[in-house]
Amino acid sequence: VIAHFRPKSLAGCELLITAGPTFEPIDPVRGLTNRSSGKMGFALARAAAEAGARVTLVAGPVHLPTPAGVLRVDVQTADDMLQAVLPRAQALGPQGVFIATAAVADWRPATLAPHKLKKNGKKVPPQLELSENEDILARVAALPAPPFCVGFAAESEHLEAHAREKLVRKKLPLVVGNLGPATFGHDDNSLLLVDAQGAAPLPADGSRADKRVLACALVAEIARRRAAWLQ
Ligand code: CTP
Ligand code: CA
Repeated sequence: VIAHFRPKSLAGCELLITAGPTFEPIDPVRGLTNRSSGKMGFALARAAAEAGARVTLVAGPVHLPTPAGVLRVDVQTADDMLQAVLPRAQALGPQGVFIATAAVADWRPATLAPHKLKKNGKKVPPQLELSENEDILARVAALPAPPFCVGFAAESEHLEAHAREKLVRKKLPLVVGNLGPATFGHDDNSLLLVDAQGAAPLPADGSRADKRVLACALVAEIARRRAAWLQ
């Protein structure tokens, strides 16, 4: 009952979050995508709304219900996601928070075939030329007055080193690492919080926890670090 009257950790805060994969079409029926269920991002959006934030969730193609009280913007490609994110991130200012959980496709087919590519009579498979997608998180972090930016790093090895490289390269105050593919599509996860000072596991004992429980703990951690970053 007492907890009910405690001020919420993100009361009045505007929070923007990306989630899920992006889908980069090759032709009208095929495309390139990443493995991401969107579960962690959706759980974070929900936890942030419960912590009092006004949450906008920019979601790639996933089959998940929109958390209560969250404004959802559906996108398909990385470029769609960038166009949805940039003006909203700009409007946040330093009081806001941007969390990038999306598994953005790093490359897209350089050209979109107007019709379905056919196997008919061709001896050689089609050669796909790729173009690199823009880094949405790095663009937001490089804004003149960026929000508090949180990146994610899903790695298959050397988690802390890769997460730290992303922290430095994208100029972020916090990167949340997790080791895949053990986490992909699962309901539980184990995280590593990497900042300029060091690295700390979440849960603190290095165990695994349900993604919804982790989301609440991570939102509390982000609220605490944002308050310190704003000082
Ligand atoms: N990210 C993004 N836009 C991209 C690529 C990544 O916003 N075009 C964000 C992700 O949402 C994540 C963070 O950047 O929060 C790290 O993504 P990741 O794919 O791990 O890093 P990359 O910089 O793409 O490096 P690599 O895939 O080579 O490990
Ligand atoms: Ca990538």
